[in-house]
Amino acid sequence: MEIMSDILSAELFLPRIAAAADDAALDALEQELFGRKSGVLTMAMKDLPALDPEARKAKAAELNVAKKALEEAFAAKRKTLSAAALGALAQTDALDVTLNLPAKPAGHLHLIPEFIREVEQVFSRMGFVSASGPEVETESNNFNLLNIPPEHAARDAQDSFWVKSGKESKERLVLRTHTSPVQIRFMQSHKPPFRAIFPGKVYRKDADATHSPMFHQFEGLMVGTDVSLANMKAVMITAIRELIDPEAEFRFRTGYFPFVEPGLEVDMRWRGDESKSREGKWLEVVGCGMVHPNVLKNCGIDPEVYQGFAFGFGIERMIMIKHQIPDLRAFYDGDPRFLQQF
Ligand code: PHE
Repeated sequence: MEIMSDILSAELFLPRIAAAADDAALDALEQELFGRKSGVLTMAMKDLPALDPEARKAKAAELNVAKKALEEAFAAKRKTLSAAALGALAQTDALDVTLNLPAKPAGHLHLIPEFIREVEQVFSRMGFVSASGPEVETESNNFNLLNIPPEHAARDAQDSFWVKSGKESKERLVLRTHTSPVQIRFMQSHKPPFRAIFPGKVYRKDADATHSPMFHQFEGLMVGTDVSLANMKAVMITAIRELIDPEAEFRFRTGYFPFVEPGLEVDMRWRGDESKSREGKWLEVVGCGMVHPNVLKNCGIDPEVYQGFAFGFGIERMIMIKHQIPDLRAFYDGDPRFLQQF
């Protein structure tokens, strides 16, 4: 019993309980004290009956005080340990809503649809609406009604992808070779005066650095009772300067398209020095002219009363000049290193 008293009075166990690192250490200490077979306190209790009544009473009281103190120390320690564990969890499992993570890279439009949006904005400021037509067209809309009869040589200039059409279709179908058939659709369904642009994809059997079998154009059409070639030039020059560069260099020269008379072509001068081979050279970007009277007639518009102009810009070529891109195939390679620059 002397041992027990020493143990307790020396406060051997109390500091050990206080110093326990975790629940397992506390369990071991508890076992050491209260274990049924060899617990220090259990043994001391077992020894009690051997004492004489006086000493037994005193000893029992002493042991009870010690037991109570120890039990309280365990309970208190367990409380601190679980509070600490919760605190640690709060640390390791914290969700800091104020944390400033690096921004995820945001995507953006491909430079072609982005440019088309700019085109729509620039032309809407000049009173033009935007409309569209199908990419699979009838032979009539793509050629015949545009004053290009079947045997016309102009068809060879637009190497076409013909589409197999079912027996029920009256007409041959073609992947439209230009956006000009949308002129036909628009004129057949609207009464002049009107101003409209028609952006979209077109298809030709062509592939090199400045040609792709699929590319984009936007058509412009303005029809009224007093629309002139001078109006056409003003609209086109405004568009080129706003879309590419106020300093952009371009030239108008005569050109032939069966659906306009007179017909013109516009070249733009290649800018910058990234492509030495093209520097100072001219790139054809647009065909234009006054809508041919036959085309107006084909759409039920009286050419004696109305006249108008039309143009068809090549979108990739404009962007190539704007950003000095030497090869248009880069537009479709899908290489982020190219696309992210714009
Ligand atoms: N459709 C012609 C082409 O693709 C361009 C053009 C449009 C010419 C409108 C004149 C008028 O080459």
